Formats: sequence, structure tokens, C-alpha cells
Amino acid sequence: MNDHEILALLCSAEREAAALMLHASGVLSECKSGHRDVVTEYDRRVQALLMERFSAAVPEARFFCEENDRHDDLHAPEVFVIDPIDGTMNFVRGFGHSCISAAYLRGGVPTAAALYNPYLDEMFTALSGGGAFLNGRPIRVSDAPLSESVVACGTSPYSMELADRGFALMKAAYLASLDIRREGSAALDLCSAAAGRAGVYFELGLSLWDYAAGMLIVQEAGGVCCTIEGKAMPLDPSRPSVVAGGERAVRELLALAREIP
Ligand code: IPD
Repeated sequence: MNDHEILALLCSAEREAAALMLHASGVLSECKSGHRDVVTEYDRRVQALLMERFSAAVPEARFFCEENDRHDDLHAPEVFVIDPIDGTMNFVRGFGHSCISAAYLRGGVPTAAALYNPYLDEMFTALSGGGAFLNGRPIRVSDAPLSESVVACGTSPYSMELADRGFALMKAAYLASLDIRREGSAALDLCSAAAGRAGVYFELGLSLWDYAAGMLIVQEAGGVCCTIEGKAMPLDPSRPSVVAGGERAVRELLALAREIP
């Protein structure tokens, strides 16, 4: 399948799986690595549905997924990186701000991404070299400085050792910008940056499934996605920091981070 066909596959599978989220009732959660890191039967069902659809269309497909420890070799010829519900805590608590995120890697390189927020019916998509879109309309990052930007951020809730530095950077970003947001879905935060709603987004520790799709969408929206040290994002399980948005606001955020021990 070519990348356009893969993108159509990602979108149709996500729309189909979104019905599970929208009609969920009596959502119960179980703890994974700690009391904040939770999973529900809906995370598992959404993931199973996506894997079924992707395997049917691409029999050689390999997977790197949040649930069920399915972590195949990321350098296989065709790999789908799936976060079935990003913003699981929001989902469990009924905040209505979560999404389904999937990226497709060809030979280890992200070439297609789709990220669907069923609550707002917003489908963010990108193809490598083909631009980024929201419901089919092109999107672009903001070119505003930090002082004229809203800053989206995450708390890396499964890595509490990052809290002191993360909250110090949030305070610095708050003082230097219009305001900050902590909305509870890293994948949607990346899309907020891609669409220029947030000037920049940062979080000090994320998993590959949280950022693989959003990273391509930010880059294709003309933005930068890098670590807090300004290095290229690794495509591996190392849980790196992530900073994303318009080049100017990213540069200023990186400078603030250098001042924080
Ligand atoms: C989490 C959310 C959250 C972010 C965490 C992520 P999950 O993903 O994106 O906003 O702060 O770092 O792990 O666990 O809900 O898929």
C-alpha cells in the first residue's frame, strides 16, 4: 500500500474504533506501572480493533503499542505505533478530552499519522512531505514569540522524579507567556501546537506511542519537535522529553529550560 492508502486506513480504523469510546459506559480502570498509570477495557478493545484492521490490510505489519506489551522491532519494514486512548485518565474521569493516535513507520521513518479526537470530531493527519491537516484543511504552527503564546504542558505523571524540574519550567513558561494549559493528552497537545492554538508544548518524559503521530503532524505543520536539549527526537522506547511548536517559541522555551537545574 502507498502512504496515501495507509493514511486512509489509519483514519477509517480510528473513526470505527472511536464509537467504542463514545458509547463507553461503566468505565473501570486497572493500575499498570503505578496508581496514575491506568488502563481500561476500552483501551484494549480500541487497540485490538486497530491491530485487526491494520493486520488485515498489511499482513507483514509489526506493532509498537501502549497496551499488552506489543513492542516489535521499530526498524521492521512496516510498523504501526498505536496509542489506543491517549488521555486515559481524562477518559476514565469523563473529561471528554482524549484521542486515538496512530503513526505508520516505513523502514523506521514516520511517513503517515492520524490522530482522532472523537469528542470534537477532529481528525489531524499528516503525510511525510505532504503537509498537516485538520479535517482536511491545512494547519500551521504559530510563529508568535512566547510572550504572545499559550503554552501547553504535561506533568509526566508516571515519572514523578521529573516533577521538580517540570513544575519549575511550567512556572517560568507561565511568567514568560500569556498562560499555560495542562489538558491531559500529550497527543492532543502536540496537535494544539501543530494547529497554532498553543505556541509551544512541552513535557519532560513521554513514551513513543504518545508522540510518534503528533511529532509528524507538528513537523508537517511547519514546526519543530525536539527534546528539551534541542536534540532530534529518538524513535525508541527511551521516554525522552518533548518540545514542539513554532520555531521561535520553541527556541525561547529551550532557553528557559537551560536556566533550570
Ligand atoms: C498520557 C497523557 C498525559 C501525559 C502523559 C501520557 P496516556 O498518556 O498523554 O497527558 O501527561 O505523559 O503518558 O497514558 O493517557 O496514554
